[in-house]
Amino acid sequence: MPLGLADRMGRLSPSATMEVRRRAEELRRKGVEVIDLGPGEPDFPVPDVVQEAAVRAIAEGHAPYGPAAGLPELKCAIAARYREDYRAQFTPEEVLVSCGGKMALFSVALAILSPGDEVLVPSPFWVSYPAMAHLCGAKPVFVPTLPQDRFHLKPEAVQEALSPRTKALIVNSPSNPTGALLSPAELEPIISLAQKHSFYVIFDECYELIFYEEGPYSAAPYRGENVIIVGSLSKSHAVPGWRLGWALGPEGVIRAATAVQSHSVTHPSTVSQRAALAALTEGRDATAPMRAEYLARRDLVVEGLNAIPGVECLPPEGAFYAFPDLSAFFGGDSLALANYLLEEAHVAAVPGRAFGRDGHLRLSFSCSREELRKGIERLRAALAKIR
Ligand SMILES: Cc1ncc(COP(=O)(O)O)c(C=O)c1O
Repeated sequence: MPLGLADRMGRLSPSATMEVRRRAEELRRKGVEVIDLGPGEPDFPVPDVVQEAAVRAIAEGHAPYGPAAGLPELKCAIAARYREDYRAQFTPEEVLVSCGGKMALFSVALAILSPGDEVLVPSPFWVSYPAMAHLCGAKPVFVPTLPQDRFHLKPEAVQEALSPRTKALIVNSPSNPTGALLSPAELEPIISLAQKHSFYVIFDECYELIFYEEGPYSAAPYRGENVIIVGSLSKSHAVPGWRLGWALGPEGVIRAATAVQSHSVTHPSTVSQRAALAALTEGRDATAPMRAEYLARRDLVVEGLNAIPGVECLPPEGAFYAFPDLSAFFGGDSLALANYLLEEAHVAAVPGRAFGRDGHLRLSFSCSREELRKGIERLRAALAKIR
């Protein structure tokens, strides 16, 4: 008789973004030229200073275990960056260095959530938030954000979703998948609500430095008992595989999240931590050229998509995804549409349903402008056949 799995696994669904990648790979192996607009990772080379620091760390023998919360000099560099950029003061005890923003989020979630707690998740949402809540035995409660508000989270919507069980709200700005970027004027009332009703707000700022007309914005200036900030080097310095992120927050929460980390992954690779130190000191300017290229791509994609009959696309304010409305096709079934586009146009995109909003697709613009032009042309031709 099979031994079976933990009950909590029944509430997890496989990552839809990974599934698109797998199907695109399958087609590629058959020799098909697929334009992959699925991935959520930068296509830029690692900045030289960051590469060199990693190589140096290996040569200098930075191989032993380090402190669970991260190298002290790196924690200081992270705190210094928030001080310089946002005039926010964090002590080293309020900083946890982690294996990407994802592990920082997960360690914080395990540190603050108990079974039965409710976690408010603005929708559309990043695919891992509901999974993280479930793995902690907590319940995700979705808070709608609407296209007429450019998918910006409204305090009234948060207020409406509150219950005596609400323990935390996760705010992702700039947002994956919508690109919505909340201004300080929008962050403030959300934090006031958290103070008034006594819940945590976890700000996932992994795309902080990928912004367009306005930015960068952070909730760091509102630091306090309710505020937890998560950041990452994955997007800003094009090192998603090096797994380096961090959490900033009240000392008690950071101490608890560090305990989780110490009993699980221990700490991120010391080589990555040394590279991060370079990224946050000498490599501070490395994101600007990437941002400029993303902006050109964003404009190309938004213009191209809006020129297709039946497609409506808001310009993302940050991150590197377009989240167009294609509900005019397949009766709004985004999974059927994504499958059709992969088979017919050989263009891979992630169905909006994975992010809690059917009728949309997420198209990443982390590929060349030439590929994007080709991809949009293929979409146009394939969509024209089913209109
Ligand atoms: C919204 C959001 N948060 C967090 C992450 C985690 O990034 P990492 O763990 O690479 O820092 C991602 C990655 O795609 C993301 O899209």
